[in-house]
Amino acid sequence: MKLTILGGGGFRVPLVYGALLADRAEGRVTAVTLYDTDADRLTAMARVLADQAEGVPDAPAVLATTELDEALRGADFIFSAIRVGGLEGRAADERVALGEGVLGQETVGAGGIAYGLRTVPVAVELARRIARLAPHAWVINFTNPAGLVTEAMSRHLGDRVIGICDSPVGLGRRIARTLGVDPERARIDYAGLNHLGWVRGLHVDGRDELPRLLADPRLLGSFEEGKLFGTDWLQSLGAIPNEYLHYYYFNREAVRAYQDAEQTRGAFLRDQQEGFYARMKDPAAPAFPAWDQTRAEREATYMSENREVAGVGERDESDLESGGYEQVALALMRAVARDERTSLILNVRNRSTLSVLDADAVIEVPCLVDANGARPVSVDPLPYHAVGLVTAVKAVERAVLDAAASGSRATAVQAFALHPLVDSVSVARRLVDGYTKVHPGLAYLNRP
Ligand code: G6P
Ligand code: MN
Repeated sequence: MKLTILGGGGFRVPLVYGALLADRAEGRVTAVTLYDTDADRLTAMARVLADQAEGVPDAPAVLATTELDEALRGADFIFSAIRVGGLEGRAADERVALGEGVLGQETVGAGGIAYGLRTVPVAVELARRIARLAPHAWVINFTNPAGLVTEAMSRHLGDRVIGICDSPVGLGRRIARTLGVDPERARIDYAGLNHLGWVRGLHVDGRDELPRLLADPRLLGSFEEGKLFGTDWLQSLGAIPNEYLHYYYFNREAVRAYQDAEQTRGAFLRDQQEGFYARMKDPAAPAFPAWDQTRAEREATYMSENREVAGVGERDESDLESGGYEQVALALMRAVARDERTSLILNVRNRSTLSVLDADAVIEVPCLVDANGARPVSVDPLPYHAVGLVTAVKAVERAVLDAAASGSRATAVQAFALHPLVDSVSVARRLVDGYTKVHPGLAYLNRP
């Protein structure tokens, strides 16, 4: 089986390759093609992967290329993990928003809209190309904002594109562990959009165990989300929100903490990765240890400002070990390739799952996966407070998709102005001005 990774010079590629190396089963991936626009990054990653493969018999062969068509042809699976504008672009997304006093973050609020506006046109081009050159390939989208980008690609690839995120899995695992149940045996009732979902139940042998957690402040306060949101708020919601909802429920505090931070997350990662890729230019530098150390530092500082706002200490040991993205991707690929039916929380088209959204809206819900792809299972309706956020954010995503297709500035203004975390149309206008000034990739927003 051939796997192609778009954004193959990206920092997280060794996580995927590590998961592939551990897979000894029949029908596993035997060839990996890394595609990237940046040849130096490809060379760096190829070195790390070669280190990883050392001593592993039948390690998947790795080919690196800057030729897109060559990478796509013959692919059975395509992982799309690109970062349009690089981490410098991410830092600019954050900076411009924070300068206007609104949230500057990779996927949520103004920063996420800017990133979406930059990424959608590129993702659509890739989807078109895939539809032509690899029409039978399954596309797994890792690119953030993952729900929006998956929806953009689904307009060209239908249900052949499936979006993934590790945050619902991580959340489900933490809740299960806190309750002392085996995560593998738990069925998690989770629904929403990517980075905007809630766990409403955790069922083991037909019994919902979540009420037991919500009723016990000691247990509830003992894990990441309990500390982040506070036990009172979780009890009052009657659900456990995805960690990204911290940006909504504690918006002022998060914005202030981000403004006060020495560096934004994007700027930190930009500097960190510049250092790593520079080190990889020295042929004597040990590749895998350098990568792993950089990864560990990245994991340890994830959402550190939010945790500071909430007075949460260091991250839990168990949350630092990876096992997120790559495990979801591998499980998904296995289920499809071997027709091994499994259940995973994924980003797919709604069909009739959430009645407040139309059939083509990409949502994040538990899905049944097999050789026919992923189908959402039926879930309970969202409560009104969640309906409010989910429909508002979906309206924003639709405005982003429309603006990306038409180049209309007014529609881009609408995308920002309709977001619940942007509190003024004037701010939205200034954000469009600010972003188009700093991002060459937004020059297409040149129609009124
Ligand atoms: C979580 C999110 C991802 C995000 C990742 C890394 O896993 O679900 O969407 O890419 O964190 O965040 P970072 O701030 O380290 O880039
Ligand atoms: Mn994610």
